[in-house]
Amino acid sequence: MEKFETIPAVRSYLKRERSRGKSIGLVPTMGALHRGHMELIRRSKEHTDLTAVSLFVNPIQFNSPEDLENYPRDLHRDLTLLSQEAVDLVFIPNETEMYPEAVITEFDFGPMEQVLEGQFRPGHFNGVGIVVSKLFHIIQPDMAFFGQKDLQQVTLIRRLVRDLSFPTTVVTVPTVRETNGLALSSRNLRLSEQGRDTASLLHQTLLFCQAELMKGGDWLFIKSQAMDRLLRTASIEPEYLELVELNRFSVMSSPVSGLPHALCIAAFVENIRLIDNIVISEE
Ligand code: PAJ
Repeated sequence: MEKFETIPAVRSYLKRERSRGKSIGLVPTMGALHRGHMELIRRSKEHTDLTAVSLFVNPIQFNSPEDLENYPRDLHRDLTLLSQEAVDLVFIPNETEMYPEAVITEFDFGPMEQVLEGQFRPGHFNGVGIVVSKLFHIIQPDMAFFGQKDLQQVTLIRRLVRDLSFPTTVVTVPTVRETNGLALSSRNLRLSEQGRDTASLLHQTLLFCQAELMKGGDWLFIKSQAMDRLLRTASIEPEYLELVELNRFSVMSSPVSGLPHALCIAAFVENIRLIDNIVISEE
C-alpha cells in the first residue's frame, strides 16, 4: 500500500498510474474506519483498477469545536485495516497541506443547504464541498464512492459534480448497519453499550414511519406520533424527522406520487449526534 502525505507526491504517483491506463477510484473518509467504509472500498475495488482512500478529519466541516476535538482518531488502526483490505493508496494530508491558508472560496448550495443537516449544522456543507472538490482535483478519480448513510451529503456532491463538470462518476453505497439496525458511524465508538441500544431507535422510527406511510397514513400525523414517542424516551433527544423529495432534497408535508422520497432523522444519544435515513419507494 502506497502512503502519501503531500499533494505533489500523490499527484505525480497517480499521473504515472493513469498514463499506464489505470482507472482510479476514490473513497474519501475522516478515518476511524468501520465496516461501512470498508463496503465503499470493496465497491471501488470492484469497479476501478486503483483504489485510493483519503484519511483527513476536515476541520472546516465541523460546526462545533468540541465535536472536532472529540472526533475519534486512530491512524495506526486505520492503516492496518486498509492494508488488510489491500487498498492501493492512502492519502493522509495534514491540515497545513490541505489548508496552507484559510480558504476564502465558499459554496452555497441554495435551498438544499437550508434544510436538515444544512439547517442544523451551518457551514457544514460548505466545508464538505471544499474538501471534496480539493480531493477530486488532487486525485482526479474516475469514480468516487459515498455512503447513503449521509444522504444529503451525497445528493449535494452529485449536484456539485454536475454543476462544476467534474469528470467523476459518483456511486452511492447502501448503509451498513449493526444487527439491531443502528447505522454504523465513527461516532458510535463514543456510545456506551446501552447508548447503542437506544440509538437503534433511530432506525426503528424510520421503519415505523415507512410502514405507516405505506398504509396511506397522513405524514404530518405519523411524524407527530413518532416524535412524541422519541421525546418520551429519556435518553434520546430528537432534532429532526423529515420526509424529503430525493432529487431536490426538499422537505415535504406529504409524499408526491411518482417521485422518489426519503425519511431522514437526526437525534442526540448520550450527547452524540447521530443521523440516519431510508429511501422509500412506491411498491
Ligand atoms: P466519514 O464520516 O468518515 O464517512 C466517509 C464515507 O463513508 C461517507 O461517504 C459516508 O457516507 C460513508 N459511510 C459512513 N457510515 C456508513 C455506513 N454505515 N454505511 C455506508 N457508508 C457509510 O462523510 C465523511 O466522512 C466526510 O464528510 C467526507 C466525505 C470524507 C468529507 O470530509
